[in-house]
Amino acid sequence: MNIQTNQKINEATDYYVDKVTELQTFPAATIRMMQLINNDNTTVDELEIAISVDPVMVSRLLRLVNSVALKGREEIKTIKESIVRVGLNNLRELVTADLYREVIKETDTGVLEDKDFSFKLLWNHSLTVAILSKIIAKLLYNSNGEREFMTGILHDIGLLIIIVTAPVTMTKVIEEWSKDKDKNDFLEIEMKHLNTNHCLIGAKLCSQWNLPSEAKYAIKNHHSTLLKTDVQRTLQLANYIADRKRFSAILQGKAKLNSMIKRLVKGNADKLRGLDGVLRKEMNKVKDLYDL
Ligand SMILES: [Fe+2]
Ligand SMILES: [Fe+2]
Repeated sequence: MNIQTNQKINEATDYYVDKVTELQTFPAATIRMMQLINNDNTTVDELEIAISVDPVMVSRLLRLVNSVALKGREEIKTIKESIVRVGLNNLRELVTADLYREVIKETDTGVLEDKDFSFKLLWNHSLTVAILSKIIAKLLYNSNGEREFMTGILHDIGLLIIIVTAPVTMTKVIEEWSKDKDKNDFLEIEMKHLNTNHCLIGAKLCSQWNLPSEAKYAIKNHHSTLLKTDVQRTLQLANYIADRKRFSAILQGKAKLNSMIKRLVKGNADKLRGLDGVLRKEMNKVKDLYDL
């Protein structure tokens, strides 16, 4: 790829990210929350102030903290107590999932609904990939799965950004791709119409939110066949399983599995055996919390 092409791609990527900031698709309070939870030096007091201004977040936090999984002997009533009980890891998941859900709920571009895409599909896909990522990270890499959950929720956020900022162009992309879903390459068609793609746009936005670099890398390369990090491997496997189970962001033909992921699955067949059961349990747990 030459310098000129690279520059064109960078400019287009910036254009969509700037546009979504301009439209205030993500409320300022939520962006502030994202930046705070991804900063290791943030104090509980700072989090308390940021959460207090968002009543939806307050109610969900209190619901979570008083849920069966986290319930202690005494009922928790204040935001500060909740933050301490929930812990930063759970809070990160809650904030990220909330950001996505709220935007999807509020967004109605009036286009695309009768096509192979809906915001509900995108939300279900993102949450399924997030939950799967967490399970896979625990099973294969001994990780607590927290970073992987966040990466999973956000991996297709570029799609949301394109749909919000350029619904007509996105309709064209989906229409062209739908002509032969098994053969057409979605990223290539995005590049043709937008001079960029949802992976690059998503990664760029995540830079603005201080997301850890492994998360940004995995999001940027979530359709690449070159797998370099565990977070990226986890995300791609989760994305594949979600598609295979018909939890796709965009209704598609056969879910594609690249050879590196195939090897990963083969080599870890034992560890992955119980995955379906765990997924069902985890999905049930979050059903009420996130209005699935
Ligand atoms: Fe994607
Ligand atoms: Fe995806």
